[in-house]
Amino acid sequence: METPEELEYDQDMISLLEAVWGEGFMSPGGTEEIDRVLGDKDLREARVLDIGCGIGGAAVHIALTRHPRSVTGIDIEENLITLSASLAEKNDVSAICDFKQVAPGPLPFDPGSFDVVFSKDSIIHIADKSRLAKDIHTILSPGGWFLASDWLCGYEGEPSPQMQAYIEAEGLDFELASAQVYQTALEAAGFVDIEIIERNAWYRNQARIERDNLAGSLYAGLLEQVGEDYLNRAIDVWEKMIVVLDSGEHRPTLLRARKPS
Ligand SMILES: C[S@@+](CC[C@H](N)C(=O)[O-])C[C@H]1O[C@@H](n2cnc3c(N)ncnc32)[C@H](O)[C@@H]1O
Repeated sequence: METPEELEYDQDMISLLEAVWGEGFMSPGGTEEIDRVLGDKDLREARVLDIGCGIGGAAVHIALTRHPRSVTGIDIEENLITLSASLAEKNDVSAICDFKQVAPGPLPFDPGSFDVVFSKDSIIHIADKSRLAKDIHTILSPGGWFLASDWLCGYEGEPSPQMQAYIEAEGLDFELASAQVYQTALEAAGFVDIEIIERNAWYRNQARIERDNLAGSLYAGLLEQVGEDYLNRAIDVWEKMIVVLDSGEHRPTLLRARKPS
């Protein structure tokens, strides 16, 4: 498995993201955004899969508030799985939560294993959206829901120089795709009732607040945890991200789709 040097989400990154986005979260919006993704769907007694569970904030929130039968979180990084399990323990939901490290690639579950497949801002790291949509369709039970948020792009083909500069500054393995690519992948997999809802307007504002917090109220505390260079680079990432949020090239988006009964 990976050595600490190879981790995309190492301890400095986790400290910084949790400071900005809240305990358990490595993506924006906290529990409010998780509730928005889930909408009015009834998760009582559902077997839920969280793809790219990170440090467990969403999985634990679902376990605490939606009365699922089980929540299985998967991620490719072992350190994140350990932190997710600790968060579940701390919140007393370990009995219904299970976290597993997986290798990138086909989802390692039997057909019909889950009633809801959830994911928050993680599919951006998975290149083949068609393969993933088919996999999700297969492991869902008939009538099951795919409920997700992801970071999409507002273009087909090559990103602008500003977008390239942002992606480079992030330094993460981003596999961005447009809403059309997601729509086609979901339709081809057999999903119906597909909803693709833009969150760009919300995040354009939110990202400015986050940038101001990083450079302001969070600065001194984070300086001690991650050091000046790391922190200043992070603020630069936010500056570059705001540019591409404003241009519409960076599009946080909600995705919902149902497997027919
Ligand atoms: C931006 S973080 C979001 C984490 C979490 N969903 C949240 O909202 O806090 C993206 C996550 O996707 C995970 N990831 C990347 N590639 C993956 C893959 N092929 N399968 C599952 N998880 C993956 C990363 O390790 C990371 O934890």
